[in-house]
Amino acid sequence: YHAAIRGALFDIAKVCDNADDIAHHARFIEDGLLFIRDGKIQARMSWQEGEQYLDAHKGYTDRRGKLLLPGFIDAHVHYPQTEMIGAFGEQLLEWLTTYTFPVESQFADEAYAAEIAEFFISQLLSHGTTTALVFCTLHPESVNALFSEALRLNMRLIAGKVMMDRHTPEYLSETAEQSYQQTRELIQRWQHRGRLGYAITPRFAPTSSPELLEAVRRLREEFPQTWLQTHLSENPNEVAWVNDLWPEHQRYLDVYHHYQLTGERSVFAHGIHLHDEEWQCLHDTGSAVAFCPTSNLFLGSGLFRLPACWRNKVRMGIGTDVGAGTTFSMLRTLGEAYKVGQLQSYRLRASEAFYHATLGGAHALRLDDEIGNFAPGKEADFVVIDPEVTPLQRLRNERCKDIYEQLFVLMTLGDERNISETWINGQCAWSTATVS
Ligand code: GUN
Ligand code: FE
Repeated sequence: YHAAIRGALFDIAKVCDNADDIAHHARFIEDGLLFIRDGKIQARMSWQEGEQYLDAHKGYTDRRGKLLLPGFIDAHVHYPQTEMIGAFGEQLLEWLTTYTFPVESQFADEAYAAEIAEFFISQLLSHGTTTALVFCTLHPESVNALFSEALRLNMRLIAGKVMMDRHTPEYLSETAEQSYQQTRELIQRWQHRGRLGYAITPRFAPTSSPELLEAVRRLREEFPQTWLQTHLSENPNEVAWVNDLWPEHQRYLDVYHHYQLTGERSVFAHGIHLHDEEWQCLHDTGSAVAFCPTSNLFLGSGLFRLPACWRNKVRMGIGTDVGAGTTFSMLRTLGEAYKVGQLQSYRLRASEAFYHATLGGAHALRLDDEIGNFAPGKEADFVVIDPEVTPLQRLRNERCKDIYEQLFVLMTLGDERNISETWINGQCAWSTATVS
């Protein structure tokens, strides 16, 4: 092995298709050992079992009192919107024109894009997120900046250039043909370098002409290994607008489905106001959705229906959706997901919440053979959590009866202060110890 870490280990062994199963497949080792070799998990065991394999010369990293979890997966986030978190007073469509488009226009400048990309990635790491599916802007410079930084750290990151050719301001526009050509060049330049993946990224139906979606269809056909990310059925006014713009299609998702944008490695952000046949289509095509609770609450978009998602067996990951979302912290995001559940009488248990943030998210992104838990052979992306960084957390934790209660308290009271280390590809890439 190259590294061995001792601490409490928690993960979910396998992909589940209903919420009740998750706790049965949860694995908790209070005093565990994780062996890492060549950036991958070599073995995971209890201290008692594993101690004999320790090499006296190499030793081990002692993290007793801390909790090791698989790295968090952010299934939907916009890196150029980092600086506009907390833009006041608007819902989706006005929020886009008032705040978002002006901010995104700055990313034509590659130096500016590089500065924000670096900041964004350091935020992911300090919040315990090791993989993200990321929107850039329509400028190829914004993609180059983000991938350069992610490649330097050898992160498993998926991103793409926003494509949009109508209903956008003059200063932020392109033609379908330009969008196609630039996306094509970016795919050829970045797809499969290091652990990077490329996501074809039409912003959403209202900013797409039929020609643009046809270009997206062609790109998917030409590059079947890419991902696709877009927005779907987030806000009632947006849904009504889509119905006006595309009267020949019955439902919002039918627009995407018509251009063959549904399918494996397609991730649709939000999916709040979906009809039964749209859920069915997501299921039948193996598409995924991203549930973004802090964004949905902040923009007043609506309540994501977790039960419908399970019932229809649709793959789902959790997204922060920064900058409509209000935090990079997956812990805080899970706490808000719980509250969205409560408003609909759904009880989001800690086992389920942490599943969505790790293995479930990996499953949604079709990366569950690579990441999401501590199974031997998986990539060693994980977080070291200090469950007690505040007096309140200490007091509350003393009264917890088991790991599930502790995890629930962590998603209720926890945030980035609880992340003490983030490991990427078997190496500690961020640590509170190195931050002044
Ligand atoms: N729909 C289209 N663009 C966006 C965006 O940038 N953020 C959110 N939340 N929804 C969108
Ligand atoms: Fe979004």
